[in-house]
Amino acid sequence: MKKKTIIMGIESSCDETAVAIIEENKDSKVKILSNVVSSQIDVHKEFGGVVPELAARAHVEKIDFITKKAIEESNVKIEDIDAVAATAGPGLIVCLSVGLSFAKTISLSLKKPFIAVNHLEGHALSPKLNSKINYPYLLLLISGGHSQFLCVQNLGKYKRLGTTIDDAVGEAYDKTAKLLGIEFPGGPQIEKYAKLGNKNSYKLPKPIINKGGCNLSFAGLKTAVLKISKNIKYKQEKYDLAASFQKTIEDILCTKTKVAFFEFKKKYTNKNNTFVIAGGVASNKSLRKKLINLSKENNFDAIFPPIHLCSDNAAMIAMVGLEKYKIGLYDSFNFSPKPRWPLDEKAPFLKGAGVKL
Ligand code: KG4
Ligand code: ZN
Repeated sequence: MKKKTIIMGIESSCDETAVAIIEENKDSKVKILSNVVSSQIDVHKEFGGVVPELAARAHVEKIDFITKKAIEESNVKIEDIDAVAATAGPGLIVCLSVGLSFAKTISLSLKKPFIAVNHLEGHALSPKLNSKINYPYLLLLISGGHSQFLCVQNLGKYKRLGTTIDDAVGEAYDKTAKLLGIEFPGGPQIEKYAKLGNKNSYKLPKPIINKGGCNLSFAGLKTAVLKISKNIKYKQEKYDLAASFQKTIEDILCTKTKVAFFEFKKKYTNKNNTFVIAGGVASNKSLRKKLINLSKENNFDAIFPPIHLCSDNAAMIAMVGLEKYKIGLYDSFNFSPKPRWPLDEKAPFLKGAGVKL
């Protein structure tokens, strides 16, 4: 019997070209053998956001080199790979197509299964790369494109408890950064600015804080930052605004997390209360501290992926690939990229004007 399972993961949904190889040994321990990420920040910087056509071109230029590097660093022979998993959505269709076609080609040439992966499920399962987590668990997914509370019932089985009705948290960070003259992507830089500022300097709105269950809204906050930023002259004022903005985000997320805790406990009595926080914004150290404390107070065990696995990477895609591989969930080469692919397909679409909460 083969002792190890080796999975290749490929990620190209947005502006990171990434390839990883992970291994699970006979004791079900997962190890990342290689995790290569090539970011396109320099390509998009001057435009203040991701330009799909440029992103796709950069993926095409880099993907074979990144794959070669990932194989070399892993020290595995390509023929020992058991399956090839690739992000198939949600994301930019021109970008997804690159990684998906590449993965299908490798899988075909190796005669090994191809597995299509939901990028959001990659974030959801990312802490499994280094922690043992049992289903069900509560998930807060906070990235550049998504902000949701979900019950993760099992692999592929999600129940959404709440979502943003406008901007994602990462998007709010990036827009605030832009208003303060910080280059894209501004999230990590806002965190640095916030450390130097007074968080009580500006009182910012907390939209739908006392209604809409654990649904979220950040658009009003961005508008308030826009107004204030027009009158800012000094660097210290920028630090103060960044600190006030970050505090407001933390207050909103903590208040809504309490609602999500309540809803999760209502659904799953007598279970372990595990709270996973994943996605790019989960790398924010100040927010991590706040959510760890809140979890302790509410009898939840807070679990974060290590910081380098919060942002987009292919190890998390390989992780989903591994779980699917173990139960024989393979996909056909007809699988097309999906620009929209919610984890909970039954949850209503809640974005845009006129949304009733
Ligand atoms: O998960 P991710 O890498 O990509 C998406 O799937 O969207 O998340 C990227 C987002 C960006 O909006 C970025 O500004 C934000 O995560 N981000 C942060 C931090 N690091 C990344 N936001 C706040 N604080 C950070 N330290
Ligand atoms: Zn992501």
